[in-house]
Amino acid sequence: MSQLKNDRFLRAVSHQPVDTTPIWIMRQAGRYLPEYRKTREKAGSFMNLCKTPELACEVTLQPLQRFDLDASIIFSDILTIPDAMGLGLEFVEGSGPQFARPIRHERDINRLAVPDAEKLQYVYEAIKLVQHELAGRIPLIGFCGSPYTMAAYMIEGQSRKDFPLISKLLEESPFLLHTLLDVLAESVIAHLNAQIEAGVQAVMLFDTWGGMLDTKNYEEFSLYYLRQIIQGLSGNYTKKIPVILFTKGGNRWLEKMAETGCDVLGVDHEISLQEARKRVGDKIALQGNMNPQILLESADEIQQDAERILESYGQGSGHVFNLGHGITPDVPPEHVKVLVDTVHELGKRFHTEKVSK
Ligand code: CP3
Repeated sequence: MSQLKNDRFLRAVSHQPVDTTPIWIMRQAGRYLPEYRKTREKAGSFMNLCKTPELACEVTLQPLQRFDLDASIIFSDILTIPDAMGLGLEFVEGSGPQFARPIRHERDINRLAVPDAEKLQYVYEAIKLVQHELAGRIPLIGFCGSPYTMAAYMIEGQSRKDFPLISKLLEESPFLLHTLLDVLAESVIAHLNAQIEAGVQAVMLFDTWGGMLDTKNYEEFSLYYLRQIIQGLSGNYTKKIPVILFTKGGNRWLEKMAETGCDVLGVDHEISLQEARKRVGDKIALQGNMNPQILLESADEIQQDAERILESYGQGSGHVFNLGHGITPDVPPEHVKVLVDTVHELGKRFHTEKVSK
C-alpha cells in the first residue's frame, strides 16, 4: 500500500487489516522529555525552536528514539498562522502563548490576509528534513488549528479560561467573526496543502476550543469551516491524504463531524470508544482516547487502562491508540514506553484478519 516500513497507522486509518493497534501520542515531542527541554534551551525560545528547521527536526525525532511509535508529528504550533499574519507570537514561560498585536478593532480583522507561503517556509523545510531522516520508517503527520480555535487566541491575545472576547464578538458582530474565520480557513487550506507538498502523509485539525460552543454555534462557527478545509484539501491530490479531525469536548457531535469528509475522528476521554464506534465507527476510524492523567499512575494501572480502551474499541482495524488530549510535562518518559509496548503487545489479539501487503 505504501513504501513505508511501518504503515500500521495508515492501514488503521483506512480500516485495512493490521497486525496490532498503532499508537502515537499528542504532544509526543514536548517538555516531559529532558532532551526536548535541552534543545528548547539551546534554541532560546519556543518560537526559535519552531522557526529553526534543524532544531524542529531534532525534537520531532526525539520521541521516536525512545519509543516504538507508529507515527510522528511535525514539531510546530497551531498559532504559527496568526504569527505569519503579523500578530507577533511569543511564548512566555509559565503563561503560554501571547500575541504582541492581538485583534482589538474591526480594522485589525479587515487587514488580515492569507500569509505568503514564504512566511511559513520553516515548517515545510522542517518536514523535508524529518522525512529525510525518517527514510520511510513511519509516516509523518502535519497539522493546523481550526479557524475557531486560532481566532479565540487572536482575539483574546493569550490563553484564558472560556475565551470571553470571542464569545462577545460572536454575540455582537457575528458577521465580523465570519470575516476572520474565512481568512483563517483559507490560510489553513494553503498551509495544509503546502505541508502535504512538503511530504506529510496525513494531516490533523486541532479544534481545541470548538467544544465550548453550543450546537448551533458549533455548526455555524467551527464545523462549517472544518468542512470547507477538508473539502479544500481532497480536490488537489490524486492520492488522498487522510485527515484526522479532533474537537476537544465535541463528543456530542461525532455524527456531524463524521460527515465533514474526514477519515479519522480524534476522541477525548469523556466518552467510551465502544459508544463512539457504535455511532460512527464503520464510516470512520477513531483515534484516542486514554486520559492523559493515567500516565502519572503505576505501570500496572497504565496497562490495565490500555487494555480497557483496546477492549472498548473491540475487534478489527480502524483504531489508532492515542491520548484524549496532549501529554502533560509531568509524565515520566518510562511510563510512555510502558504504554506503547503494552498497546502493541495486547493489541495483537484484536486483529485476527490476515495482513497482506
Ligand atoms: O504534538 C506534537 O508533538 C507536535 C507539536 C504541537 C505543539 N503544539 C507543540 C507545543 C502541536 C500539535 C501543538 C498543537 C497546539 N498548540 C494546540 C492544539 C492541541 C491542544 O493542546 O489542544 C494548541 C491549543 C496550541 C497552542 C499552544 N501551544 C498553547 C496553548 C501552548 C502553551 C501551553 C502549553 O502546553 O505549554 C503551546 C506551547 C507548546 N506547543 C508546547 C509544545 C511542545 C510547550 C511549549 C514549551 O516548550 O514551552
